[in-house]
Amino acid sequence: MAGVTTNPGDINASVSPSIVDGLKICCIGAGYVGGPTMTVIANHCPGITVTVVDLSQPRVDAWNSPNLPIYEPGLQAAVEKSRGKNLFFSTDVEKHIAAADIIFVAVNTPTKTHGIGAGAAADVKNIELCARTIAKVSKSSKIIVEKSTVPVQTASAMKRVLAANSDYVKFQVLSNPEFLAEGTAMRDLENPSRVLIGGDQDEEGLKAIRLLVEVYAQWIPRENIITTNVWSSELSKLVANAYLAQRISSINSISALCEATKANVSEVARAVGTDRRIGRAFLNASVGFGGSCFQKDILNLVYLCESFGLPEVADYWRQVIIMNDYQKERFAKNMVRSMFNSVSGKKIAIFGFAFKKDTGDTRETAAAYVSKYLLEERAKLTVYDPKVTEEEMFLEFKYTCKVDEETMPGFKNLITTCDDPLKAATGAHAIAIMTEWDCFKDYDYEQLYGVMTKPAFIFDGRNILDHEKLIKIGFQVSAIGKTFDQKF
Ligand code: UDX
Ligand code: UDX
Repeated sequence: MAGVTTNPGDINASVSPSIVDGLKICCIGAGYVGGPTMTVIANHCPGITVTVVDLSQPRVDAWNSPNLPIYEPGLQAAVEKSRGKNLFFSTDVEKHIAAADIIFVAVNTPTKTHGIGAGAAADVKNIELCARTIAKVSKSSKIIVEKSTVPVQTASAMKRVLAANSDYVKFQVLSNPEFLAEGTAMRDLENPSRVLIGGDQDEEGLKAIRLLVEVYAQWIPRENIITTNVWSSELSKLVANAYLAQRISSINSISALCEATKANVSEVARAVGTDRRIGRAFLNASVGFGGSCFQKDILNLVYLCESFGLPEVADYWRQVIIMNDYQKERFAKNMVRSMFNSVSGKKIAIFGFAFKKDTGDTRETAAAYVSKYLLEERAKLTVYDPKVTEEEMFLEFKYTCKVDEETMPGFKNLITTCDDPLKAATGAHAIAIMTEWDCFKDYDYEQLYGVMTKPAFIFDGRNILDHEKLIKIGFQVSAIGKTFDQKF
């Protein structure tokens, strides 16, 4: 491994960039985090060989093909720039772990579904498996970097597993949480607000931290690279996501009050957000937040607080999730109430199934929860999303909502996907906007109105459409946190 020559206490001291040349990085997990992150490292560090390994052969094959397994704007070009030169994708996990100087762990850590902490704690089984494999195959000292979001103290557990399973090889475990958001991952990785690196504060730990700082310093200003101890780093990731989710739940709670009082939540958000201390970001009221991180990380935080005997703190953060569930259910109930208290047998076009725009990811998407509620009311749903396949949609129903043919017989007769918005709307009683895809704003709503059953309803779960225009066309319009004077 390349050595570091500066004073160990001086983490941000400038050293020659060539210190990273010749390094071998292996990343375990070729998912939404591992794939894009390693691609950006390879792009910026031509002297480093980066190999992303994954247990899934189809996933690795897709990374090596023209059809990448995930959609992310800018990713394709970035992969093509380095793939085959210093960026590789492989299922030969053990070989590449053995050869690496630095090993990133970016495997998924879903919420536990069984045993202690079920429904709240994160399942770190994958992380432990990685640690055991690393211990088994390593013949040289290595730096292990936790990229996956993990419960606080996972690094120390990992260290124990590593130490117990290898006699002479030394491991340093660093925490380097990922802050990229899907849909903007490449931008976030190119120009992150900060990179956070946590490690042991002894000589060896600081040396490991410094090497990872050097990798990022190849393209990120040093003042944006924060170093700290391991636990603070692990906890910061959970807290950052909890704060972001809290902002959405806060504005969503106000959206309900706006609807009751005829205020407009967008106006309130604009007025509140112009206070620089509050800021404008993440104040868009919506049908509810989704994604693989927010709910999981808050549940993780809640579990942690409970484990440390802090039930009041746990309740405080749990409320962010309760508010999100309320918002999704409120939206679905409003649809049913508006459509004369019955949607049974009525066709409804669902526009958007991804949890946000510019991604095909459906994990924890609000669209699934709203759809489930409508299906229980026996509505007939036609889903149109520019990036989500029918297979992915059914997987999300099965794993997150526990809906499939077994739990809801006849389910697949009630819901279908469609590759054209006009076809989806034909004969429909309502359109429900679930994802804020830009293309939804530009559709010819006069034409869509023409093919729908009357009265034609639009439920805008993202407040992205021109509501006044839609009312003029003849639609019955509902949005989040605002009311309209319309004739019924
Ligand atoms: C990431 C983080 O790692 C997670 O902790 C964070 O909270 C969300 O984002 P993500 O990259 O989105 O997860 O997960 P996913 O797209 O599911 O990718 C994980 C990959 O790891 C999968 O391709 C899976 O096959 C692979 N994997 C999992 C392994 O290679 N080995 C394992 O032991 C487990
Ligand atoms: C989030 C964090 O932003 C990122 O830093 C972390 O690394 C992973 O988790 P991600 O889940 O990819 O990223 O997407 P994000 O942009 O945070 O959106 C999460 C959800 O909140 C989406 O469903 C989105 O539509 C919703 N949202 C976001 C709102 O409803 N209103 C807003 O104002 C912003």
